[in-house]
Amino acid sequence: MARKKIIAGNWKMNMTPSQAVELVNTLKPLVVNDDVDVVFCVPAIDIIPAMEAAKGTNIHIGAENMYFEEKGAYTGEISPAMLVDAGVKYVIIGHSERREYFAETDETVNKKVLKAFEHGITPIVCCGETLTQREQGVTIDFVRQQIKIAFLNVSAEQAASAVIAYEPIWAIGTGKVATTEQAEEVCKAIRDCIAEIYDDGTAAAIRIQYGGSVSASNAAELFAQADIDGGLVGGASLKPDFGKIVNY
Ligand code: PGA
Repeated sequence: MARKKIIAGNWKMNMTPSQAVELVNTLKPLVVNDDVDVVFCVPAIDIIPAMEAAKGTNIHIGAENMYFEEKGAYTGEISPAMLVDAGVKYVIIGHSERREYFAETDETVNKKVLKAFEHGITPIVCCGETLTQREQGVTIDFVRQQIKIAFLNVSAEQAASAVIAYEPIWAIGTGKVATTEQAEEVCKAIRDCIAEIYDDGTAAAIRIQYGGSVSASNAAELFAQADIDGGLVGGASLKPDFGKIVNY
């Protein structure tokens, strides 16, 4: 069975609640495409107003992060049950900015991935190398390690429903997109890694996105690659261009 493409916006720390409503209203006529899953991952405080604004459309509202405990004394954190109650179906886990600025590790990523599945939320699991790692030729080894730890104790059935976002850190927000060959090479290596951990069926089912300076002009070529099932889009997800990416 062909994998359905999934194109997700990552708003990062942008848009106040009222701006979020405006942006959803601007984008909703532009992102109509039933062949693609369309997700807007928004700041926690924007989830409820964005959800309201997106009602009756094909847009799914997702979260950018989540904590791995159920509830309690974790000031400032958002629990999986809070996301579920708000109607959230997707959550970005382990974005490189969270790893860099908020000390997330492969181990916390794994805890969050397990917790998301426990609550029926689909994780968009991020991985990707630094420029130094790419230049030293260790990209695939590094990404395989990230994936193997992120999926520790995750069942094959859960993994089959997951989304992985391959985002080379040097391509995020820099306008420096990976070449289609570079992006496809790593996305294929990730799929092979999933086949090794699980089996061919799981590898064939899991969806793998490319992220890092995806734009209206490069989306079509990237998404045409055999192992690239859509994109995780930062900067361009805040603009009408996102409609062009969704209808690549
Ligand atoms: P970018 O961000 O599209 O602005 O490069 C992608 C991401 O960080 O998910």
